[in-house]
Amino acid sequence: MKERIYRIRAGIPHTIALLSDLHGKDGRDALEILRRRRPSLIAVTGDLFLGYKTKEGDDLADLQPAVLPFIRGCAELAPTYISLGNHEWTASPADYQALKSAGAVLLDNEWARDQETGLLMGGLTSAMVMDYRRFRRKHAPDIPYPDDKRHIDGLILHPSTRWLRAFEEQEGYKILLCHHPEYWSLRTPMLKDHPIDLVLSGHAHGGQIRLFGRGLYSPGQGILPRYTGGVFRGPHGSLVISRGLSNTAPRPIPRLFNPREVVMIDLH
Ligand SMILES: [Fe+2]
Repeated sequence: MKERIYRIRAGIPHTIALLSDLHGKDGRDALEILRRRRPSLIAVTGDLFLGYKTKEGDDLADLQPAVLPFIRGCAELAPTYISLGNHEWTASPADYQALKSAGAVLLDNEWARDQETGLLMGGLTSAMVMDYRRFRRKHAPDIPYPDDKRHIDGLILHPSTRWLRAFEEQEGYKILLCHHPEYWSLRTPMLKDHPIDLVLSGHAHGGQIRLFGRGLYSPGQGILPRYTGGVFRGPHGSLVISRGLSNTAPRPIPRLFNPREVVMIDLH
């Protein structure tokens, strides 16, 4: 597990830990880094779970028991905010409640002002989660969601952004947790054009295999993706992408030259 540090000029002195894509795995090595570094705030940008259920009615938190202790460990160290990634599409209301009971603030297309730091925290929910919710509203519970087409459909789906305007109008330093880095400048809502100081993302897993400083593949961006990790500047603010806490690719695809990572962002 690598600890990666980025410095971003912000006019305020806080350290933000960016964690993403735990995918139900053991997060104890990440917690070890957090305990040593003591961030002022922890941002978890989705895909805490692996979004596959054995049957309807199961809660992901029960199927993947490493997730809640990880969130509890984060919340004991610093205020912890979570946004929802594409893999949270099967998360149940009980899963959401369990994350909150573990001490985190769940930002599901909403924002909140952090009491300790004064930072404004927003969470944009993955369009794939929104699509699943729409499908469930329209179809009877026994009709299965066509999740095999999920990643293809994902390219034309849109997240719900109406709430963003009120968030953007607030006074103060604004941080948006948004699982998908492609929302920055490859597809709507084109977050780089929004007055948001810092957008935090994950999802791309560093491009899985990194060669010559570039990732090879990312869902939502395809081959040789542009946004797989690091810092990108826009006209209003910056995007920081985590390469993720876990490896999920099925064997024999390795995660090469691309260590799992905890990202620390020093605002200065
Ligand atoms: Fe993802």
